[in-house]
Amino acid sequence: MTENQTLTVRDNRTGEEYELPITDGTVRASDFNKIGKSENEPGLAVYDPGFTNTASTRSAVTYIDGDKGILEYRGYPIEQLAEKSTFLEVAYLLIHGELPTKEQHERWVHEITFHTFVHENVKSLMQGFRYDAHPMGMLLSSVGALSTFYPEARNISDPDVRHEQVVRMIAKMPTLGAWSFRHAQGKPYVYPDNDLTYTENFLSMLFKMSEPKYDPDPRLAKALDVLLILHADHEQNCSTNAVRSVGSSQVDPYSAVSAGIAALYGPLHGGANEAVLKMLRRIGTKDKIPAFIEGVKNGDEKLMGFGHRVYKNFDPRATIIKKACDDVFEVTGVNPLLEIAQELERIALEDDYFISRKLYPNVDFYSGLIYEALQFPPEMFTVLFAIGRTPGWLAQWLELVDDKEQKIARPKQIYTGDRQLEFVPAEERWA
Ligand code: CMC
Repeated sequence: MTENQTLTVRDNRTGEEYELPITDGTVRASDFNKIGKSENEPGLAVYDPGFTNTASTRSAVTYIDGDKGILEYRGYPIEQLAEKSTFLEVAYLLIHGELPTKEQHERWVHEITFHTFVHENVKSLMQGFRYDAHPMGMLLSSVGALSTFYPEARNISDPDVRHEQVVRMIAKMPTLGAWSFRHAQGKPYVYPDNDLTYTENFLSMLFKMSEPKYDPDPRLAKALDVLLILHADHEQNCSTNAVRSVGSSQVDPYSAVSAGIAALYGPLHGGANEAVLKMLRRIGTKDKIPAFIEGVKNGDEKLMGFGHRVYKNFDPRATIIKKACDDVFEVTGVNPLLEIAQELERIALEDDYFISRKLYPNVDFYSGLIYEALQFPPEMFTVLFAIGRTPGWLAQWLELVDDKEQKIARPKQIYTGDRQLEFVPAEERWA
């Protein structure tokens, strides 16, 4: 590292030179604003649609090295957490910044377990949706609605109030997610069973029928727990950016997280696993794969579950999910779409189109196959992603609230429209 951590910029319009400090490999966008600024001219701005090269925050939650395929939560590699930890312990780690002691863990699990119920009026609200409502639409609305049940959540400057909402949201998300699922099936909503673990209780609320107590298969509960861990955070992705952006207005965390759920709903983000399954079904048989790949290369459509803004080598989560696939299929039998997925991956990874663009399977390529084997319809896949991502959203929101450098999010624009037009009233224009 050189001593001189500055960038010299010469404005060729004026011949003037500026020296901008470099900190942590970044220059401050506001420093560019001094360049060329005069009474009549605004200073220089940076143009970055999609924030592809703009850091919006300092964060100590999640580290990603996309070229090397590294993902760490609070410094711990995802591979170790997926193998040796549990979702609730990982949630604690993300929220508190370090692993819990035995006592802290017991208290945390107790707190989460005893906040799993929701107000009966939330149930009535959910029952009001159309019979075929998409569960993500139901989830984002019901999480947003929680802000009206806990109006004290608005007091975001009180750490105890913040903690209570964090616990409530992590605890209630499986309840709301499971009820969104039962709704579309016309089945009665199942109340939480607090004797079960977090993931077992979620399976119970999803699948319990008339049996007095649901008996979850521990291998499936474990696989689902691993999937939740893999999704728990992913630094400044679209939905986290939505949570931070909305949260920067100092709104309550339920409203901020429901904005995150809305962002996750889209097919380029969390909705991709649903899109992968639909794509695999549409391809149907292995002999149709070459024609499908040709269509992708011609720009007709995307190979869903491939490519990532950050990972340009491999997605470490995809590697772990492939292993989880084997564990789940041992219990449920192999998903027949697996063969198509594997063949699609093989062909794509040998094709120059995908190689040259560094397109590899991402977390969503195989997760849908597991979810389907677990009897989830595709519409539910993103709900599972949202439940997993909740501790990450909240950890990022907590970081935002305490960050003195943060301001209300307000990007600049380059205005391309007309100016100073003369308004002609409707009756004159239409005459
Ligand atoms: N299939 C075909 N071509 C692709 C794909 C794909 N899945 N992804 C990117 N490309 C092409 C793209 O057309 C472009 O080609 P060209 O240079 O010729 O114009 C090039 O690769 C670079 O792509 P990009 O759109 O500039 O990349 P991005 O970083 O803006 O987009 C992405 C990342 C994930 C949105 C994109 O790869 C994509 O749409 N993938 C499919 C959807 C998907 O699987 N999403 C899940 C992401 S992982 C879960 C999560 O974290 O949300």
